[in-house]
Amino acid sequence: MTNLYIGLMSGTSIDGIDAAAVSFDQGEFTLLGTFSQNIPDHLKQAIQDLCQPGRDTVQLYGETDQQMGELFAQASLNLMAELGIGAHQVAAIGSHGQTVRHSAPGQGNISFSQQIGDPNIIAARTGCAVAADFRRKDMALGGHGAPLVPAFHHQLFSDSQLNRVIVNIGGIANITVLPAQGNCTGFDTGPGNLLLDSWCKKYLAKDYDADGEWAAGGSNHKTLLKQLKNHPFFSLPAPKSTGREAFHQQWLEQQLSQLPAIAPQDVQATLMQLTAETIADEINGLDLSVDEVYICGGGAFNGALMASLAAVLPARVDSTIALGLDPSWVEACAFAWLAKQRLEAGTGNIAAVTGAEQETILGGLYLP
Ligand SMILES: Nc1ncnc2c1ncn2[C@@H]1O[C@H](COP(=O)(O)OP(=O)(O)O)[C@@H](O)[C@H]1O
Ligand SMILES: [Mg+2]
Repeated sequence: MTNLYIGLMSGTSIDGIDAAAVSFDQGEFTLLGTFSQNIPDHLKQAIQDLCQPGRDTVQLYGETDQQMGELFAQASLNLMAELGIGAHQVAAIGSHGQTVRHSAPGQGNISFSQQIGDPNIIAARTGCAVAADFRRKDMALGGHGAPLVPAFHHQLFSDSQLNRVIVNIGGIANITVLPAQGNCTGFDTGPGNLLLDSWCKKYLAKDYDADGEWAAGGSNHKTLLKQLKNHPFFSLPAPKSTGREAFHQQWLEQQLSQLPAIAPQDVQATLMQLTAETIADEINGLDLSVDEVYICGGGAFNGALMASLAAVLPARVDSTIALGLDPSWVEACAFAWLAKQRLEAGTGNIAAVTGAEQETILGGLYLP
């Protein structure tokens, strides 16, 4: 049996599909290759529509599920071609899918989580086994189904001497707490890049604020920051998870409408501070003396955000590059690992993280 797995991830930022090929020979993790698959604008728009109650028709759901399935398959095939490998060399593909709704437990609604990108299509096009639908088993056991990356972070990044925290700053941010002694915990902290991205799109017509340069030129607006931090999510106890449902442009506009006009650049600076402080508040509130904080996800490339984080955290703050893994690929690698766990009938969740009754095998298996 081959030990090569492919992980596919497309996060709340909807910035593209990350595909990573990894091997786990003799338990040793190696990143073999990566591919970034562009998502065409009409599909980005369809995903955004599906994320909004009222515009999320079953017809659009089915069509986008099919098209994202094709795109995930294409990402896998492009990666395989780049590496010169065939389906027989791939043990399985782990596909997270694209989240179109995450209705977390304990937040007032019937809880469920929906990811699209039909795994049947990925299996049929690639000829590989596909593990997918990772979140819902955990939810069936009373968990949040999120975050799922902590178990992989624990495998790869924990240290026997140092207390570490891994922060994944995607559209939403989540932390994994890795004490040198004791159990791994973790949860979503709130917005990562998604408010920064949407505000930047509105005023600069760019997908993101490169290196946080625009934010760095503005000033943090203390009253706005205080108001944004009043969002009920921030005071929820863990386990907790969130998504675009709770933090979106309309929520931000609504908060702004309650205050005198604020310069757009100062809003951007405040949003960056919101991301940094809400992550740091959680880390500083841990019953643990944290030695090192490592950042992964696209937020690691935002120099101004990294500096803001370092300013509010007493520990060393660095990118996961310092641990030998490029921050862009950590999450895709985690889904390759989850595919391996599924194939080997190993557990994928950490009950203390998601709040599930127990650790369990995650995901369905789709054979070619
Ligand atoms: N050079 C950069 N400067 C600032 N922000 C960046 C940069 N590169 C990536 N990002 C941010 O990272 C986001 C993508 O991060 P990613 O980890 O893929 O999130 P997700 O998992 O939500 O898709 C982009 O939308 C952008 O906000
Ligand atoms: Mg992404």
